[in-house]
Amino acid sequence: MSTTAHRAVTAGIDYADLYARWERGNWSATAIDFAQDRVDWHERMTDEQRRSALWFYTLFFHGEDAVTDGLSPYIDAAPLEEQKYFLATQQVDEARHSVFFKRFMAEVAGLGDGTMAGGMLATESLLTWGHRKIFGKLDEMADRLRADRSLPQLCRAIALYHLIIEGALAQPGQHFMETYLERMDVLPGFREGIRHVSLDEQRHIAFGVKLLADAYATDPAMTTEAIRETLQDVGAHMAAIAMPPGWDETYYTTFGFTYDELAREGMRLLEMRLKAIGLDLERLDRFPIPFDVPFDERARRGRVLLEANLTGPDRPASRDRYATGVMFDALRRQADPRMAKPGTTIAWDFTDAEPWHISFDAGRATSGAGMTEHPDLRLSIGFDDWADMFAGRESPRRQLLTRRLRPHGDLRLFLRMRRIFA
Ligand SMILES: [Fe+2]
Ligand SMILES: [Fe+2]
Repeated sequence: MSTTAHRAVTAGIDYADLYARWERGNWSATAIDFAQDRVDWHERMTDEQRRSALWFYTLFFHGEDAVTDGLSPYIDAAPLEEQKYFLATQQVDEARHSVFFKRFMAEVAGLGDGTMAGGMLATESLLTWGHRKIFGKLDEMADRLRADRSLPQLCRAIALYHLIIEGALAQPGQHFMETYLERMDVLPGFREGIRHVSLDEQRHIAFGVKLLADAYATDPAMTTEAIRETLQDVGAHMAAIAMPPGWDETYYTTFGFTYDELAREGMRLLEMRLKAIGLDLERLDRFPIPFDVPFDERARRGRVLLEANLTGPDRPASRDRYATGVMFDALRRQADPRMAKPGTTIAWDFTDAEPWHISFDAGRATSGAGMTEHPDLRLSIGFDDWADMFAGRESPRRQLLTRRLRPHGDLRLFLRMRRIFA
């Protein structure tokens, strides 16, 4: 579909209709019958499948609880009554989703004492680093929205909640769960619940896209920047949320799908929604997502950076050339070429790895391996120390103070780097 066609889809959604769809779609999480699920769980599913399901469902269980708790400032900040009413229905939905997952954990998997707190405590150790990071960001976002109810802040918050978390991270997982449980013909109660959850989430995402499309129609620059900033802030953690423990692919393959398929689907859905909001992806500057490469490759890059410890919590980093190239490509994409004079080159003169550089010319930044002849700025640093900075594990300030990062050449350019790579 063209951007115009995508936008026509958004124009067909209205807040009152989304509310009416909520009334029609009401369901009961407490009425779901888990009797057959208990039999399937213990007698028809393998140890590996139970281990995988427990891990994956835990990500959703804790996610649902977090989105329930974090939605109220959105209701306060939404400018239209119809938006507030819809968001109030969404908060009920999220609570219902949390109750559904809590019941499954307690009544089928036998975890927790039947209370929300007990269920969460019993499963908390299964959460991934990426999950904690992303939902930590969602908490921060709710606090910021409480303090600032402006439209740009609401757009940032909706971009994180509805577009990224619900749309790109959760929805592909819900679809995969529905598909494989259907195929295996197990857990009928869970299947019934997750089908309702998926339908609810479709409405929530449609609301978020609609609100962002409306904002874009009145202020495209503000809305684009709000989405860009948010993606920039959490983009590096997106690949980590559903990273299987120890990259053990059997967490996925035991149900007949792969991590890469999930990540690819997330990228596809995100692009579809960005177009529906109205963004012209070919003209976007400094977006952290490489829209000019296929979905598979986009998803692969997130994984490659994470596997190489160029993102994520761990060190040391891999010196793999492809992964290093992906890191520098990401860096040059987020660079603002207006902040550097044409002809400027910055070189990373790694003390223990091959050097790389980024050059600015004709309004764009390019990256490449190797040293250039006369870089304007030469950064002397160990590869792992640089990786810690890129991944946000260590601040540039500390690296500088401890002399692990040593700039040579144009020091004013060095000071401008914060603005170039903001
Ligand atoms: Fe939900
Ligand atoms: Fe939702």
